[in-house]
Amino acid sequence: MGCMRLVVVGVWCALVLHAGFFSVSSYADDLDPDFYSDSCPDLPGVVFGVIFQAALSDPRIGASLIRLHFHDCFVQGCDGSVLLNNSGTIVSEQDALPNRNSIRGLDIVNDIKTAVELLCPATVSCADILALAAQVASFLGGGPSWSVPLGRRDSLTANQSLANQNLPAPFFNLTQLKDSFAVQGLDTTDLVTLSGAHTFGRAHCGTFVNRLYNFSDGNPDPTLNTTYLQQLQIICPQNGDGSNLTNLDLTTHDQFDNNYYTNLQQLNGLLNSDQVLFSTPGADTIDIVNSFSSDQDLFFDNFVASMIKMGNIGVLTGNQGEIRSQCNFVNGNSSSSRLAGGNVASEDTKQNLVSSI
Ligand code: HEM
Ligand SMILES: *[C@@H]1O[C@H](CO)[C@@H](O)[C@H](O)[C@H]1NC(C)=O
Ligand SMILES: *[C@@H]1O[C@H](CO)[C@@H](O)[C@H](O)[C@H]1NC(C)=O
Ligand SMILES: *[C@@H]1O[C@H](CO)[C@@H](O)[C@H](O)[C@H]1NC(C)=O
Ligand SMILES: *[C@@H]1O[C@H](CO)[C@@H](O)[C@H](O)[C@H]1NC(C)=O
Ligand SMILES: *[C@@H]1O[C@H](CO)[C@@H](O)[C@H](O)[C@H]1NC(C)=O
Ligand SMILES: *[C@@H]1O[C@H](CO)[C@@H](O)[C@H](O)[C@H]1NC(C)=O
Ligand SMILES: *[C@@H]1O[C@H](CO)[C@@H](O)[C@H](O)[C@H]1NC(C)=O
Repeated sequence: MGCMRLVVVGVWCALVLHAGFFSVSSYADDLDPDFYSDSCPDLPGVVFGVIFQAALSDPRIGASLIRLHFHDCFVQGCDGSVLLNNSGTIVSEQDALPNRNSIRGLDIVNDIKTAVELLCPATVSCADILALAAQVASFLGGGPSWSVPLGRRDSLTANQSLANQNLPAPFFNLTQLKDSFAVQGLDTTDLVTLSGAHTFGRAHCGTFVNRLYNFSDGNPDPTLNTTYLQQLQIICPQNGDGSNLTNLDLTTHDQFDNNYYTNLQQLNGLLNSDQVLFSTPGADTIDIVNSFSSDQDLFFDNFVASMIKMGNIGVLTGNQGEIRSQCNFVNGNSSSSRLAGGNVASEDTKQNLVSSI
């Protein structure tokens, strides 16, 4: 299924990625999987090559990259705004509460951008790199592949307060989660489906410790499996600083599969926002959890559709925005031109890149 089984045939994987396993019938009006077919035909292989290399030493990188795309799309659309650092007029989204000390993978995005600029200068947006990276992450973890609609352009702005407002919190109840997705044009099925990305990656104790000791009336969250509760209490002591990490998926922590949903059925969801999908009495999300738990293909098909839908949110196209030369800065800024050659990938990365395509 995933490329992990195909380590020696990376080129084959890249070809499969390029072709895509699923044919998709509807795209946002302006996006097109063939957008770079002439201007940067090797783009999918390059993105794959850099992430594949990074995953050899960091099995979590795919999870971190999928999350980056999600955090980009929910804040003024999929426009690369999350990548902008503080500088000039930019107040970075990276310092918003849901991002601070928790988003990862910015350096790998820069490595990809450097590699892409070598091959096809000033052509590919950082927002598209995030969308492609999310697809590679799913595939490398053993999840579905798909043809990624492309042609996004990069924003000239970021919005830290909007990041605080739009990104859902782990303590949200089901109503709040649905509302937060509805703002983005995403429905209840999208919510349950995309939450399945918590099939891999990690979370800090601080994001769920409220469930472990005094959730209500001095007791832990009653919708948390007591065996799991005991394990989590060891990792996250009551008066700890919340900085320990644990797997989002108790059973298959680095694999992209449907065990996330099986976990929820056994009260083994890590975040409150995970478990409420199954444990909110009478909720319309329960049947969806059950169906994904019993049919991984159904989950994968829905995941592809919901990722494409999320990837369409608020995109800039045509002459809107720009193609950034460095993903952390808008163009034409003295600081960004100083860094113009500053996609600081090592020679090693470039070598690996060239040998991966
Ligand atoms: C439904 C609302 C969601 C909430 C409340 C939520 C919240 C969180 C939180 C609190 C973490 C742990 C962060 C940390 O402690 O460092 C996390 C991690 C993660 N989230 Fe979500 N998330 C949601 C939806 C999504 C979606 C839609 C995706 C992608 C499609 C996603 C992908 C991930 C991944 C892969 C990780 C692990 C990242 C890593 O290991 O670096 N999440 N999420
Ligand atoms: C951008 O900010 C991040 C921290 O959010 C930092 O790690 C990175 O080095 C910065 N990038 C550049 C090119 O200054
Ligand atoms: C570019 O960034 C530098 C460094 O943060 C800042 O001083 C300058 O005002 C910015 N210029 C523009 C045009 O945004
Ligand atoms: C950020 O978003 C908020 C809410 O939509 C808006 O009121 C504000 O003007 C935006 N700020 C910037 C800097 O774009
Ligand atoms: C969810 O939280 C909101 C805000 O705190 C609250 O108004 C609402 O009653 C809660 N809904 C449920 C179903 O608990
Ligand atoms: C639990 O929290 C409530 C409200 O925050 C507080 O009144 C109560 O004393 C706490 N109980 C225990 C056992 O810590
Ligand atoms: C981290 O977890 C270990 C157990 O795995 C625990 O002994 C330690 O106190 C925890 N540290 C913090 C800061 O929570
Ligand atoms: C708790 O989790 C274990 C597996 O980790 C499972 O066997 C058990 O049935 C779960 N308990 C409940 C109440 O779901």
